[in-house]
Amino acid sequence: MTESDPRNEKVMVALDVASEAEALALAEALQGSGCWLKIGLELYALTGLKLVDTFKQMGFKLFLDLKLHDIPTTVERTLRVLCASRVDMVNIHCTGGYDMMARAADVCHPAGVKVLGVTVLTSMDQEDLSNLGFKAKVRDQVVNLALLAEKAGLDGVVASAQEAALLRSRLGDDFLLVTPGIRPPGSAKNDQVRVFTPVDALKAGSSYLVIGRPITQAKDPRKALQELWV
Ligand code: C5P
Repeated sequence: MTESDPRNEKVMVALDVASEAEALALAEALQGSGCWLKIGLELYALTGLKLVDTFKQMGFKLFLDLKLHDIPTTVERTLRVLCASRVDMVNIHCTGGYDMMARAADVCHPAGVKVLGVTVLTSMDQEDLSNLGFKAKVRDQVVNLALLAEKAGLDGVVASAQEAALLRSRLGDDFLLVTPGIRPPGSAKNDQVRVFTPVDALKAGSSYLVIGRPITQAKDPRKALQELWV
């Protein structure tokens, strides 16, 4: 086996698969590489927290990407349950408001779990935002929500790599920027429109790169992970 690149520790592989067996096969292929695994809504709907212990025993760090959005008490109580599992990172929508974010931070931090905010989904454009009654420009909305998240005590935000440089200039050095929409040079974009290469996203200030299909749909996922850096 070739030696793992230390930058793999910045990669969160999105396990967007339709069965527990596929998720386990990917975890086995990636074990020991240093990367994180991301459990999203689909896998959570299939397996709940069942795979958390298995993945932790295999040595992975875990990001549970459920993007919670509810009244502060419901979010706080749900996070209490999630933090009792062995996940390392969770997330909530910033638009749930300051109180929701502050209470989320208060629950997660004593449990040693990082909590991120989702600012504006990258699937939404200016028109979508206006239709919802938001008057701000997308970039301004992203920055404002990220500043509010930082004030509320969140550890970071999920954002497009396109916004990473701007956010990095406005937020503390330790504030985490987790960026999806990453594609190795020359690989298929799939349905991602604005893509960054892994190296460019790190240069722009990303702390972690969320990468799904370029790794999960590769014949050899371990090799695809290693080839992010060549
Ligand atoms: O396969 P791909 O690399 O496009 O997967 C990206 C992952 O990041 C998916 O799990 C997707 O849900 C997630 N994501 C995204 N854009 C966002 C937020 C999350 O692509 N703005």
